[in-house]
Amino acid sequence: MSWRKHQQPIDTAPVMAREHRWMAERYEELVAGGLNWDPPTLESANEPECTVDGQQMIMLSANNYLNLTTHPKVMSAMIEATQKYGAGSGSVRAISGTMDIHLAAEEAVARFKGVEASLIYSAGYTANVGLIPTLVQGKQDVIISDELNHGSIIDGVRLTKAQRAVYPHNDMGGLEQALKDHADADRKLIITDGVFSMDGDICPLDEITELAEAHDAMILVDDCHGEGVMGEKGAGIVDHFGLQGRVDFEVGSFSKALGVQGGILAGSAQMRTHALNHSRSWLLSGSQPPGVAAAQKAAVEVLMDEPQHHARLWSNTNRFRAEMNSLGFDLGVSTTPIIPVMCGDSRLAKDLVSALRDEGIVAGAIVFPMVARDAARVRNQLSAGLTDQQLDSILAGYESAGRKVGLI
Ligand SMILES: Cc1ncc(COP(=O)(O)O)c(C=O)c1O
Repeated sequence: MSWRKHQQPIDTAPVMAREHRWMAERYEELVAGGLNWDPPTLESANEPECTVDGQQMIMLSANNYLNLTTHPKVMSAMIEATQKYGAGSGSVRAISGTMDIHLAAEEAVARFKGVEASLIYSAGYTANVGLIPTLVQGKQDVIISDELNHGSIIDGVRLTKAQRAVYPHNDMGGLEQALKDHADADRKLIITDGVFSMDGDICPLDEITELAEAHDAMILVDDCHGEGVMGEKGAGIVDHFGLQGRVDFEVGSFSKALGVQGGILAGSAQMRTHALNHSRSWLLSGSQPPGVAAAQKAAVEVLMDEPQHHARLWSNTNRFRAEMNSLGFDLGVSTTPIIPVMCGDSRLAKDLVSALRDEGIVAGAIVFPMVARDAARVRNQLSAGLTDQQLDSILAGYESAGRKVGLI
């Protein structure tokens, strides 16, 4: 069912805006190529048992890795803060929109990440887009970026005038060559995703750090899918590799394992002062609603106090991976709770998604331009909230849907 079916009928005739034929043509092209978006509509919380377009389904396509979206402590923190501080913050952070609960959330993040300081942005997207341009000056600098980095990094890099070098995915020879090619650059900034969101593999951050140190480069790692997931207790990719104090900037998100919304920057106190004085996305946009700030802090505390969610995420991940492998699915290069089923053709990925839908499972087709045209896949994301019975149903549903579309 399309989102349009959920819109209420309007009793007065809308004023018709001017029609742009080129938009219709562009959309028709997308539809013809199987590349248009028509997202399903959730009518419940985004948790493993959910209601999508009127049907009860199992969610296998959410960033809610630790199932914190509905954690009672997170929800009540949001409600209580809203009652005390109101629905909105009333200003940008820099003028009169910094509340004590924003600072408390930042302190909680710094404790959880084991760093000196943190700064919260309105989203992971705006953290990358706001921070990256503050780290370079112009043509005298270079940004060296993994070819599969997230679009928010690409957009942040586009906002700079620095030279750019892109190295083949996770190719340390390529990174070293780029560092040598730009040995004369004033500032060198290496940027990589920690966990790559489309393939579920991780970057070799230990080797990247060695190279950065040898070539006097800074490192920004996007840990959006690593927070709450990687590391012994979920502190992220830096913790996973034991690189505390050696990675300059960690960008993250509250909208994934932490189950809320908002962007994270973690690092030194100096970095925090620099970022808040120069990031346009932080300076020029209203601050997070008080309820969100309180929920952010509560989510971080739950993550630190209740390690069972992290453990359950990984036991679910390991079971799903092992049994999907036995069924004969191609899971690509994933080593994390992001586990794609590789399909190649975008139509095949969409057919698999609709066959899974018939089995009561929501999983997302990932097609061009999010991935290369011949690398379409169905992306599964495991959650600590999935019960053994739900996993049984998912695996049985995958077996039957996979046979129906001819993938296994
Ligand atoms: C690797 C990566 N970086 C950044 C973001 C943006 O995070 P947010 O949803 O908080 O804007 C995402 C989300 O899709 C992501 O996957």
